[in-house]
Amino acid sequence: MIPYGRHHIDEDDIHAVAQVLRGSHLTQGPAVEAFEDAVKSYVGCRYAVAVASGTAALHLAALAAGVGPRRDLATSPITFVASANAAAYVGGRALFVDIDPATVNMSPALLAAQIAREPGLQAVIPVHFAGLPCDMAEIARVAAAGGVKVIEDAAHALGATYPDGSRVGCCRYSLMTIFSFHPVKAIAAGEGGMITTNDPDVYHRLLRLRSHGINKVGDALRFGDLARTGDLANPWYYEMQELGFHFRITDIQCALALSQLRKIDRFIARRRELVRVYDEAFSGVPHVRPAQTGGRAESAHHLYVLRVDFRSSGLTRAEFMHRLRAADVGTQVHYIPVPMHPYYRDLGADPTAYPAAQAYYEEAISIPLFFDLTDSQQAHVIATIRETLR
Ligand SMILES: Cc1ncc(COP(=O)(O)O)c(C=O)c1O
Repeated sequence: MIPYGRHHIDEDDIHAVAQVLRGSHLTQGPAVEAFEDAVKSYVGCRYAVAVASGTAALHLAALAAGVGPRRDLATSPITFVASANAAAYVGGRALFVDIDPATVNMSPALLAAQIAREPGLQAVIPVHFAGLPCDMAEIARVAAAGGVKVIEDAAHALGATYPDGSRVGCCRYSLMTIFSFHPVKAIAAGEGGMITTNDPDVYHRLLRLRSHGINKVGDALRFGDLARTGDLANPWYYEMQELGFHFRITDIQCALALSQLRKIDRFIARRRELVRVYDEAFSGVPHVRPAQTGGRAESAHHLYVLRVDFRSSGLTRAEFMHRLRAADVGTQVHYIPVPMHPYYRDLGADPTAYPAAQAYYEEAISIPLFFDLTDSQQAHVIATIRETLR
């Protein structure tokens, strides 16, 4: 079966992990900082905090942005549930802003309308869907006018660039950006996430929150007198200053991710080439079109999503997916709109309030896109889809 996505591991990655296993630190060692430093210089931001997953990164980012009771968070309905769940983790409410059908990203105009309607909005999480950067200049402008903090969900977008040439993660347009290093993403850590920011206070808070809320180097102590005996520092003393979490990532994961990061340009170049071939192959094929067509040079190309007009094709999506599966072609739907999930319906979400997301969902299908997809496998995917739709 050709999956819709998968990681690529080579001998360098295996060697990097083995080095950690032979060394002295499995966790809380030098590989974590080395990976953070590498991401910082790759994306061009001041601070980076590596955590256990993209979900943990969203959770801490929501907390650091002040989301909480009566301080809502808005995100896209077309995302993985984790982007919205960050609100509930911190006692806040998730609201949804419909997508622009041309990009499958949050519509900045609808965000402006939402901000005007909901004065309690504390933060917005635009999602760079499938690796295509949102219109961040416009989102940042609209959010700033409404006093709303911006957290970019770049789980799909490590390696993507904005139209101004800067990299997603540099936080030029946001307070924080989060990444995921789950194996289907641009680089794999096994599991892992990262928050980038340029704000020193946010950075120090994130460091504490990642590790139980305990003070970190440079943090002022509440009870400084307990930290000393006369002229001597008390080496055991630390303070838990707020309720934090254990969201640390291990050195094993960071060594793998660091080794993977060295290959990211190659990874993205191959994805871009595969996308070009798909774009050409499907142009003019009845019932089908790419879900995103703009920003081909800027996207990190995490997913290749087709929109298939199943009504006119005479096939249901279930039949289409099963026929492809029978030909060893794996597909997936990204995503079921978050307001459709029972948890969010129980909280009062109305999926019909997001018509563009709903129309997209009816037609969306992700087809195989990953570094190791060979030309002949891709030709098989294309031929199978054309044949199935004929
Ligand atoms: C858009 C988006 N945000 C957040 C996450 C959460 O990342 P993780 O799986 O590392 O917790 C994912 C993961 O699939 C995602 O696709």
